[in-house]
Amino acid sequence: MDQKRLGILIFLCLFSSTKCFVDVNRRVDCFPDLGASQAACTQRGCSWDAAPNGSPTGTPYCYYPTNTGYAVSSNDGKENIQLTKQGGPANPYGADISPLTFKTSKVGNVLEISIGTTGRYTPPLNLPKQPPSNQAETLNFQVTSNNTFSFKVTRQSTGRALWDTSIGGLLFADKYIQIATLLPSDRIFGFGEHVHKKMKHDMTRYTTWPMFARDIGPDSGSALSTQNLYGTQPFYLCVEPDGKAHGVLIINSNAQEVTLGPAPHLIYRTIGGQLDLAFFPGPKPEDVIQGFLAYIGRPFLPAYWALGYQLCRWGYKNLADMQAVITRNQAAGIPLDVPYADIDYMSHYEDFTEGDDWSGFPAYAQQLHSQGLHLILIFDPAIEVDYSSFQRGIDQNASFIEWPRFDLVPRQIQDQYPMAKSTKIMLGNVWPERNTAFPDFLDTTGKTDAWWAGEFARFHNITPFDGMWIDMNEPSNFDTNVYSSNRVHGEAPTGDKLACPISGEDGKLDNPPYQTQAVYMHPGENLCSKTLCMNAKTQRGTQDFYNTKNLYGWSEARSTYAALKSATGKRGAVISRSTFISSGRYSGHWLGDNTARWEDLQTSVIGAMEFNMFGIPYVGSDICGFNGPTTEELCLRWHQMGAFHSFSRNHNTQAKLSIINSLYIKFKGDPAQDPAVWPSVAQAAKQALTFRYQYLPYLYSLHYRASLTGSTVVRPLFFEFPIDSEIFSIDRQFLWGSALMIAPALDPGVTTVRAYFPADRWYSLQDETYGNQMPVGYNTVNAATTSLTPVFVRGGSILPRQTPTTTTTSSRQNPFEMLIAVAANAQPSFGELFYDDGVTLFDDITKNPHFSFNFNYSTGDTAAKLTFVTNDKMDLTLPTLDIIEIFGYEYYPDFNSFIWNGKSINVNVQTSTYYPLRKMLYIKTKGLIDLNDVASRATSVLTWSHRVV
Ligand code: GLC
Repeated sequence: MDQKRLGILIFLCLFSSTKCFVDVNRRVDCFPDLGASQAACTQRGCSWDAAPNGSPTGTPYCYYPTNTGYAVSSNDGKENIQLTKQGGPANPYGADISPLTFKTSKVGNVLEISIGTTGRYTPPLNLPKQPPSNQAETLNFQVTSNNTFSFKVTRQSTGRALWDTSIGGLLFADKYIQIATLLPSDRIFGFGEHVHKKMKHDMTRYTTWPMFARDIGPDSGSALSTQNLYGTQPFYLCVEPDGKAHGVLIINSNAQEVTLGPAPHLIYRTIGGQLDLAFFPGPKPEDVIQGFLAYIGRPFLPAYWALGYQLCRWGYKNLADMQAVITRNQAAGIPLDVPYADIDYMSHYEDFTEGDDWSGFPAYAQQLHSQGLHLILIFDPAIEVDYSSFQRGIDQNASFIEWPRFDLVPRQIQDQYPMAKSTKIMLGNVWPERNTAFPDFLDTTGKTDAWWAGEFARFHNITPFDGMWIDMNEPSNFDTNVYSSNRVHGEAPTGDKLACPISGEDGKLDNPPYQTQAVYMHPGENLCSKTLCMNAKTQRGTQDFYNTKNLYGWSEARSTYAALKSATGKRGAVISRSTFISSGRYSGHWLGDNTARWEDLQTSVIGAMEFNMFGIPYVGSDICGFNGPTTEELCLRWHQMGAFHSFSRNHNTQAKLSIINSLYIKFKGDPAQDPAVWPSVAQAAKQALTFRYQYLPYLYSLHYRASLTGSTVVRPLFFEFPIDSEIFSIDRQFLWGSALMIAPALDPGVTTVRAYFPADRWYSLQDETYGNQMPVGYNTVNAATTSLTPVFVRGGSILPRQTPTTTTTSSRQNPFEMLIAVAANAQPSFGELFYDDGVTLFDDITKNPHFSFNFNYSTGDTAAKLTFVTNDKMDLTLPTLDIIEIFGYEYYPDFNSFIWNGKSINVNVQTSTYYPLRKMLYIKTKGLIDLNDVASRATSVLTWSHRVV
């Protein structure tokens, strides 16, 4: 900008209350909706300055002057501040509510800020709100300006401002709430659900991320796709310049969005409810997440078998087809625990039914059980309104989402259905052939939950499934204001679309003054597009769907989690497509309908790390890609990576939709992609999954710890090394806990991977370089298609393993093993094992019977010592520990010197070896250590002598 222009702007700023130049890096957009122009901008009382060349991408021309906001009208100096609307521009989307109440409170060292007024909607999440276990850091709150009220949240130990709202722009109308803040660093991670091509947000530009659950798959092929996907996760983590981290949660369930800008700053907008913020002070990234999950609720613990490999597809023609696929993969020796059936198994896509070609399904479920396998079935929330499940729902007074008034009910649709005729239930169209109703899982009477659980129990009596896959729960509706484009049966649309009012009094909620980018990015759409009308009623007529829509998947998961427990009497797993804050308490998540493309493989690595941050560690992507035909190489690489995601499932669609005469839609077969299709993929899947099955005791322990403490399972490298500035761009690698690093091949045609090794000791677990120490920094590592995924163990860790077979059920019968990776400078190594029967239900995980052992390995020049500490034990016989493997072992061991709890024990010298060049000790002796004996003592010790090499 030239000097003259700047001078004029400064003049205007000084002598006018509205025209105040704001640097292109620090703007708060005054025209996020469509149709910005200088005239319209000025009309709003905002400033207009075209961004000069070189300005950050997306710089708004129209922006709020910094005096936009509220003023403090009273402050009790404790927790309550009253705010009144001050001068500055009026809220363009409705009258600002004044006065407003601004409250602060603390839960341990978590700072809560609530901005609202009486009667605002708050989601009924029933969060536990426990304080974090790490109370080392303190956050302070301070009002920094009374006129144009602004505040700071600072970290006491460093004085750093985590939020500083002096950027202005607080607005609070009934249907438009906005808050903006400067951020302390550009290392911002999170907000969901989106596909992020990089895990660290690009804060050099303005980017708006809408959050409004939507049935739409990730578009990883674009350079930037900001579209809102299936869930809503208004949480981010920020790493400050000194490596300390904090997290911020915004509790609000309305359609919302965040703009990230280059100051760095953020602008949060929502069109209802109120602002309830929580600041988690960390200071390590893991502390942030643990504090966050203590507050929102920690993740459910999946059944042990649910960590096995899962094989799914949409488009099995019949049961025999499914059986053939499962059998051929078993025959190929692929470790496999969980066959799935998609909607194909149902009769006419109706929940809790089975199609004619599936009559042997109950017997097949039993057969799978007899092989130690488990079955997961899909269940969609939408219930066709002309069969027995729906009738029972009506009879039991279950609640369904309804029209607000009888006169809005479209008679030509409703009258077709005797069971729904006299109701206000809003009918839509999903997979079933005829119209569907949507259960209202926010019903607080318990009747909807009871009916839902009853349907599962009834069906479980017929086909004993073990886990539930809940889909289409954004909720998705195919024919809102359009004729269904998803009719799968080939029939022509009947004209019975769900017509949501989008104008007039009844259309107000679907046509609010600000509709969010979720709508603006799809021209011609409304909030109701692909879902139900915003004027629908939930919570037994007491709430607008406008407020609760984002909670649908969350509430269905909660209800289904309870239904699974009561139907099966065992622990299992629920997988949900739509999620909200704290969904992890009830379900896992898969990353949705991805495409068989390399970009999708790459973004799934990021997605799984993000969902761990959101408290949903049971997460993974559709291995090989859901949409479109995969390729042998992509499918192979996806198995090599996906074997390291907690939820490890191959899934694709056989359903290729094609439009005929622009009306009819039919299925066409797409190729199968189970690993047995290609020998090379089978080999790679077997290798990667066999590794996974061997390390399952470690993976399960990570999940156990996640459920107990809120730790992450799959985590980004920066979680462990937040002061390494290089590390924030590393998002193609990830960790299992703190100890295993995975650096998968994610590109076509490669045979190596350039992997980053943070400053610590790392040992290779690939066959070719097994036990070798890796240099710190970037290394090119072997990633041949025939090799194990590049995977490395961190010095200082001890990992429990179990000799693998092809099911978790039989692997659990095998001996335990232990891998000790010696730390630098001969510092001790540590590890732990949580173990139980893997299926027992519990109400409180801290009371669930289980084993918990700590391991500690230390060494000196003459002797080594391995200590086992028993924290918890249960009544279950454990296999023995037969193998101890040590990396970085720099001594000649004396195999005759092993002493267990004071008594000499034999080590089998035929099967035990020391490899001096690789500095690897391998001890293998049948029945070496009886873990039942370990469990019966507080401490057990194994020692042996050695001498320096
Ligand atoms: C949705 C799901 C997909 C499933 C299909 C049929 O597209 O996201 O996983 O296969 O519906 O049920």
